[in-house]
Amino acid sequence: MTIKKAVFPVGGLGTRFLPATKAMPKEMLTLVDKPLIQYCIEEAKQAGITDVIFVTGRGKRAIEDHFDVSFELEQILARKGKKKLRDELRKIHELANFAYVRQGEPLGLGHAILSARSLVGNEPFAVVLGDDIIRAKVPCLKQMIKVYEKHGGPVVAVQKVTGPSIRDYGVIKNRKIDDRVSQIVDLVEKPEPAQAPSDLAIIGRYILTPAIFRYLEVTKPGRGGEIQLTDALKRMAPDYPLFGYLFEGTRYDAGNKLGFLKATVEYALDDPDLGENFKKYLRSLKL
Ligand code: G1P
Repeated sequence: MTIKKAVFPVGGLGTRFLPATKAMPKEMLTLVDKPLIQYCIEEAKQAGITDVIFVTGRGKRAIEDHFDVSFELEQILARKGKKKLRDELRKIHELANFAYVRQGEPLGLGHAILSARSLVGNEPFAVVLGDDIIRAKVPCLKQMIKVYEKHGGPVVAVQKVTGPSIRDYGVIKNRKIDDRVSQIVDLVEKPEPAQAPSDLAIIGRYILTPAIFRYLEVTKPGRGGEIQLTDALKRMAPDYPLFGYLFEGTRYDAGNKLGFLKATVEYALDDPDLGENFKKYLRSLKL
């Protein structure tokens, strides 16, 4: 079954970026001239996603406005002869069909996904976490859909993480079955480094099947008192084959300041209008 829907949990508070995120959703922080969330939606579109489900919370209106038609702005731009810019703005609205569901209380990633259940219905779907920005020749989600189609089960994106920062991730215990693909034997959410079952950390891209909802329903709060998707997948693993996929590409953790700055520099260096001048500027700093 083709994957048309993607769930974007965007209810998080963004405390790591305060005060920037006091009155603005963290998903609207910009890399060069585009909000983080738009990069993720573009990745989804390139992977064939047509329906986007945002799981939102309080203070996230700017996301709705960003993906809506901005009629007045478009008219003003057209009147001023800035048709190219107007068309660019119109394209944002046309990236997908957008639907919104409120999470109510921020009870964790698992709970956010469960909130999207009736909009997802009985079909496989993607989950994209907007803190993870992935640059890749073939969009990460597209790579994962291929794995899903070949192996026929949920797929979780993983990357190698060594050292103490493994405690910031869900970690899989795996059995390698193919180039870059493993079957998942077990999962642990944010283990202490000594207890991590491998060095394969879960990154914010998932292909899930609707069976996950039955497991989420009965998952009790885990790490941080939140209902964790990792815990629901752990329950699911003995009943269904689940796969970990070592994706090709570079991932930036745009949810922390250093990761966000790295992404900003690299996207700016790649920008056709800014890149050369920015490179000259960085060189002039003689660090
Ligand atoms: C979430 C997941 C975690 C995963 C991470 C990837 O954690 O719970 O398993 O490794 O995203 O970014 P968060 O970073 O939202 O705390």
